[in-house]
Amino acid sequence: MNINVNSARLNHSEFETDVLAGLSRPQKTLSPRWLYDQAGSHLFELITTLPEYYVTRTEVKILAKVSSEFAAEIGPGATIVEYGAGAAIKVRFLLDALATPYEYIAIDISREHLGEAVKSIAADYPEITARPVAGDFLTRPPDLDLSPAGPKVGFFPGSTIGNLSDGEIRGFLTGVRGQLGADSYLVLGADLRKSADILIPAYDDAAGVTARFNKNILVRINRELDGTFNLDDFSHQAIWSEEKSRVEMHLAASGDQVFFVAGRQFFMNAGETIHTENSRKFGRQELHDLAGVSGWDMVRYATDDRGYFAVMLLKGR
Ligand code: AVI
Repeated sequence: MNINVNSARLNHSEFETDVLAGLSRPQKTLSPRWLYDQAGSHLFELITTLPEYYVTRTEVKILAKVSSEFAAEIGPGATIVEYGAGAAIKVRFLLDALATPYEYIAIDISREHLGEAVKSIAADYPEITARPVAGDFLTRPPDLDLSPAGPKVGFFPGSTIGNLSDGEIRGFLTGVRGQLGADSYLVLGADLRKSADILIPAYDDAAGVTARFNKNILVRINRELDGTFNLDDFSHQAIWSEEKSRVEMHLAASGDQVFFVAGRQFFMNAGETIHTENSRKFGRQELHDLAGVSGWDMVRYATDDRGYFAVMLLKGR
């Protein structure tokens, strides 16, 4: 029994270290990467279908509109590398538009996601080689063993860059440029700045799905790190910071709290929060500058009619 408990702990050591460090800060913080266990990934899929969450459906519309133009710029025989493949749905717009794409490489930290992504692409695009690469492209970019022939195209949709810090964005963009080489491309999705009246409901929906997604991180800590959070004592908050141009997700304590995680005791005062995610909203110039300092030129910039979201084609210098 003890052996099982300990080996489970060993597997979770990175999670445990990160959670304990985050909860020990003056502003308690949990990294958004821990939101995506199986239940969290499922809840995120539900979020993408909510009426208030314009992000996914807007990006899909833009991809449908611009993929052939992007494909014409990229040319034939491309290798497409998707960073954080998930269900590999959006990449199909690009694969459909490209002339004789050569290979699809899915990188994901979750082996389950990878298996699904590669299986579905291999089934629907038998002429393309589909290859899974397990790894955390943000902290330890895996070796891709790329073919020397044909253009290389990174694919990073969804505005996941908005969940990263400035340093992480630059690290990621520079890393991809280094990995794919000069004259490679990156198709990048980013959510744009807009009114708080649109943003807040998108991150605090009427059906409470985002609240469940946020609180699921406490469920996970309770399950995997012997946490003692009482979910009813925390409420979901979505806060727009004009100054930082981001929606912040927090979990606010409704009363004074004492809880344990992995045998350590923590305290919170009523109203104090645990900060779980930033979802940054960008401007065009800012995106242009972030790409520029990371070795990329912006060769296409496409938005929807309302100017809610941008899909860019970057070219490596
Ligand atoms: C994955 N990421 C781009 C989502 C976002 O919009 O920042 C995560 C999310 N958090 C709450 N709702 C959706």
